[in-house]
Amino acid sequence: MSLKLRKLSYALGAEVCDIDVAAPMSEVAFGEIYKAFLDHGILLFRDQDITREQHIEFSRRFGELDKHESLPQDRHPDHPELLLVTNEPNADGTPSNSRYTGRQWHSDMSFTPIPSLGSLLKSWTVPEVGGDTLFANMTMAYDTLSGGMKKLIADLHGIQLAGTRKINYAPTGVGRAEEQRKLNPPIAQPVVRVHPETGKKALYLGEKVKRFDGMTEAESLPLIQYLNAHATKPEFVYRQQWRKNDIVVWDNRCTMHQALGDFDETQRRHMERTTVLGTPSGYAVMGG
Ligand code: SIN
Repeated sequence: MSLKLRKLSYALGAEVCDIDVAAPMSEVAFGEIYKAFLDHGILLFRDQDITREQHIEFSRRFGELDKHESLPQDRHPDHPELLLVTNEPNADGTPSNSRYTGRQWHSDMSFTPIPSLGSLLKSWTVPEVGGDTLFANMTMAYDTLSGGMKKLIADLHGIQLAGTRKINYAPTGVGRAEEQRKLNPPIAQPVVRVHPETGKKALYLGEKVKRFDGMTEAESLPLIQYLNAHATKPEFVYRQQWRKNDIVVWDNRCTMHQALGDFDETQRRHMERTTVLGTPSGYAVMGG
């Protein structure tokens, strides 16, 4: 098989054209997909009208899947491998806990000792317009820093906090953020991570980090904000405009992403994500 790829943006991403991810796929054919995943950071598969079981089965080709023990309230009731990101109300009419998931720059599971290798998000229902997701190329962000800045951040560790949100979003679910923080004590992750497969250095930060280990918030925040702003400049970013039945897989080790609230919230947006386990990284710290 020879993959038909179409670049999605200058910074990152490629669409894999004319493929059915649920069809039988040899190791060699999947190897081509995996190589494209490493080369492009994110891959888009359009028109994947597949079942949940097929979504899970394709995801397993990338590695062992997270059962989302660290985010128990957001799991699909019958498939712990699927994390819901939905504004579909609960059966009793109350708002969904996961309606604001991902509304800040982050890499999946950065707040755990085994941050994710990659995630595969499938769009089941999308609003008429918007509900987009931004992705940033963190290798490019690192490479374009000055030598002085690279030296300054080389040994820094950012403390990643679970259950954080932007202040303009209302709390979701009774005690949900508190539960997430209890299950996931603060973890210090290297600000510069070496990709275990490509060997390339990438920034590893995002908006779940409020301070560096060994420094105060006041000392850390200006540099954190500078690095996040640098990493998310338009030239390092791809904007995914979802259609129903898209699957996007991204590499959490060298990209970060943010779900935008750029849509009419009376319309439905229902997404389901598998999360591929990565390799151990970081160390536990007291207090966050
Ligand atoms: C996520 O952060 O995993 C969800 C992204 C999205 O819903 O667009």
